[in-house]
Amino acid sequence: MCYAIPGKVVGIKDNIVTVDYFGEKKKAKNDFYSLERGEYVYAQGGFVVQKVSIQEAESILDTWKELFFQLQKTDLKLAQNPKTLYQRANYIRNKYLGNACCIHGIIEFSNYCRCDCLYCGIRKSNSELLRYRMEPDEIVNGAVEAAKNLGFKALVLQSGEDLWYDDDKLVEIINKIREKAALLLVLSIGERDVKTYKKLYKTGARGVLLRFETSNASLYQKLRPKHKLEDRIELLKKLREVGYLIFTGFLIGLPGQTKEDIDNDIKLTASLGTDMFSFGPFLPHPQTPLGKYPAPSLDAVLSIIANTRLANPEAKILVTTALETLDKENGMKFGLLAGGNSLMINLTPQKYQRLYDIYPDRVGIEEDISRRIDSTIKLLHSLGRAPADLGL
Ligand code: 5AD
Repeated sequence: MCYAIPGKVVGIKDNIVTVDYFGEKKKAKNDFYSLERGEYVYAQGGFVVQKVSIQEAESILDTWKELFFQLQKTDLKLAQNPKTLYQRANYIRNKYLGNACCIHGIIEFSNYCRCDCLYCGIRKSNSELLRYRMEPDEIVNGAVEAAKNLGFKALVLQSGEDLWYDDDKLVEIINKIREKAALLLVLSIGERDVKTYKKLYKTGARGVLLRFETSNASLYQKLRPKHKLEDRIELLKKLREVGYLIFTGFLIGLPGQTKEDIDNDIKLTASLGTDMFSFGPFLPHPQTPLGKYPAPSLDAVLSIIANTRLANPEAKILVTTALETLDKENGMKFGLLAGGNSLMINLTPQKYQRLYDIYPDRVGIEEDISRRIDSTIKLLHSLGRAPADLGL
């Protein structure tokens, strides 16, 4: 199984290559391979992840060819004659980015956290939560399995802010993964020194997922005691300078958040040069101070996805696990039809999944991974989405 279609390199300018997918051209950054025109690559998230032999690529493309055009047709049909807000957003997504859909795996490797965010179930004050840490080799094995057996090309490594994983451990994990597997590695490990992030970039990590949570500085400070919004924004800007692809965004429906805040959240996400918009509903966790506040409605979240799409036609917008959790039946589908074009699939070993309890009753928990992958692929097929790269 594969979450990317190989593409042919048809242009090279410094470390930016143009990749052709059945006539559709996308740009991708190439940091790791020496490439010539006519060679084939897998790219994901606008990044060249792997080189593929011409023979292998041509045989894979042969199996994709018919399906690829069929998917394009399905998507186009679903995007025609837009009337509602969601349909207009879907139309714009199709018009600017076609039917490509990025699929990322995520491994949540530790639920220890030094932060005490009021909304988060793994906050350090939650003494009822059983804590776990995956050993470095367990993380490496999970990542290699994701790439080699499950076919993922992009993987998020996420944890609470857990300093047990010091620079040496993180470098070791990334080095070992890169020795054994070709993956776009995205770190979601919270606020660390820029020095640490620079080291990890040098080791081969290329993405950072770090939400700013809310653009309202006083709300931020209330929800994240002892933390300041400006520090997080500063860090995001520095990480972008280092070269990281930036995945960031905000929470929807936080107590005290206004509509104006959300408009500013969307603008801030865009102004940071975000490569992947990642925003989702706040879901109340009973073991937190915000446990009694309501979650936002599905429509509120979908409208924000749609408005974000209309304001940012070329954005990559993630349909988050929290949205899928808000509506287990249709969250993913509706998100993809309201402007979303990226997904995450949880690859955390089953025995830990329930413990990564940032919010309750997460979708897909303890479900068989191959079943979950199959149902996701089926949904993507029904919507006409292809795992081609979205480009830079
Ligand atoms: N509901 C939804 N999302 C949450 N997060 C943390 N707690 C919650 C919650 N209760 C999100 C934050 C964080 C990400 C890892 O998880 O946005 O950045």
